[in-house]
Amino acid sequence: MNASNTLTLWRGATLATMDEALAAPYGLLADGALLVQGDRLHWVGSERDLPTALADARRQGLGVQAEQALRGALVTPGLIDAHTHLVYGGDRAAEFERRLQGVSYEQIAREGGGIRSTVAATRAASDEQLFAGAAARAGALMHEGVTTVEIKSGYGLAAEHEARCLAVARRLGRELPLAVRTTSLALHALPPEYAGRSDDYVDAAIGWLQQQHAAGLVDAVDAFCETIGFTPAQVRRLFDAARALGLPLKLHAEQLSDQGGAALAAGYGALSCDHLEHLSLHGIEAMRDAGSVALLLPGAFYFLRDTRLPPVDALREAGVPIALATDHNPGSSPCGSLLLMLNMGCTLFRLTPEEALRGVTVHAARALGLADRGALRAGHRADFAVWDAAHPAELAYRFGHNPCRRAVFAGVERST
Ligand code: NIG
Ligand code: FE
Repeated sequence: MNASNTLTLWRGATLATMDEALAAPYGLLADGALLVQGDRLHWVGSERDLPTALADARRQGLGVQAEQALRGALVTPGLIDAHTHLVYGGDRAAEFERRLQGVSYEQIAREGGGIRSTVAATRAASDEQLFAGAAARAGALMHEGVTTVEIKSGYGLAAEHEARCLAVARRLGRELPLAVRTTSLALHALPPEYAGRSDDYVDAAIGWLQQQHAAGLVDAVDAFCETIGFTPAQVRRLFDAARALGLPLKLHAEQLSDQGGAALAAGYGALSCDHLEHLSLHGIEAMRDAGSVALLLPGAFYFLRDTRLPPVDALREAGVPIALATDHNPGSSPCGSLLLMLNMGCTLFRLTPEEALRGVTVHAARALGLADRGALRAGHRADFAVWDAAHPAELAYRFGHNPCRRAVFAGVERST
C-alpha cells in the first residue's frame, strides 16, 4: 500500500460539518468520524456508519494507516478569513490617537494620511520586512484554526510595489501551511503622484492588472468605491478590464456612504460585496439576484466607532449569504483574531452563533469562489480544526479566548 491509498481515521469527534445538506444546526454529527486521503476528505459521517465506510474503502484498495482518537472534541472545517490586507509596512497607532481626540477617519484620509501613510511605509519596507510582518499576522490567524486566507494588495499603489505585495502574499502561500488567495486592490486610494488625476491612475492600474495577471499574481480584483476612494464610473472601468481577463470581482461597498457600489458589483456577478453599513434595499435585491455574498466586517465597524449597522435583517430575509472576516489592516481593523469577529458578529450585528460560524466557513468559501472547502464533506480539502469545546456556539460565545487545539491543512497536521 503506498501513501496515496492509505487513509487516516479521525474518530470520536463532535463534527460541526457546516454541510448545508444535513438538516441539523451546524450540520452537527455527534459521534462523528473522518477519513482523510492525501489532501482530501474521503468520507465524513457517524461512527455507526464507519464499518460500512471502511468496507467500501477496502473494496477500493484503501486501508487505514493511522488513527486519531478525539475523545468527543469538537471539529469544524478550517476557518476562512475572506477579507484581509495582511501585507503592509508600519502601523497607524498615531492615527488611532488622533481619532480618539475626535478627528474622523475620512478627515485624516483627506489630509493625505490614512491609507496613504501606510503606502509610504510599505514602499519603504523591504520584501523581507513585508514578508516577516505578514507571516506573523498570518501565524496569529492559523493559531485560531484559519486554514485559508484572502490577502489584498492596496498599500503599494505603484506598479512595482503592488506587484511586490502580491508576490509576498503568494510567498506566504508557498511557505506557510495555509492556503492564500490574492486580490489586486490598486484602486484603494489615490497615490500622491496622481493627485488631481484619478482617471489617469485608473488607466495605469488597469495596465498593472494585466501584467499582474500575466505573472500569475492575481486571483480576484477589488476596489474601494467611496467618496474618499473611487467613483462608480471608475470602478466600472476597472471591472470591465478585469472581466475581460476572466478575473472574479469583489468590492469595498457602502462602508461610509451609499455609492450604489453593491448593485454595481452585483451587476458584474461579484463574488462578494464587503462592509455594507450603508447598503440600500436596491443593493440587497441586486446582490440576491446575482448570488453575491455580503461580507460583513465587524472589526472595522467597531474600530471606527461606526453607529450605522449593516442591514442584517433585510439581508437575511432576502436570503443573501452572510460572511464575516477580520478585514485585517493597519487603519480600520488591526485585528488578529477571526474568532473575535464571530463574537462581534453576534454582539454588534445580531447574527446567531450558527450564522457567524457559517460566515467564516461555507459562506466565506463562497465569497472566495472556492467550492472545495468551508464544510466537512467528502471530496473537500482536508482542512479542519479541533477545538476544546463541547458545542460550536462556544466559538462565538467566548472572546479573548482561543480554544483551538489542533489544525489540519490539506490533510497535514501542523503545529501553529
Ligand atoms: O477595508 N476601506 C478601505 N480599506 C480598508 C481600510 C484601509 C486603511 O485604513 O488602511 C478597510 O477598512
Ligand atoms: Fe478592507
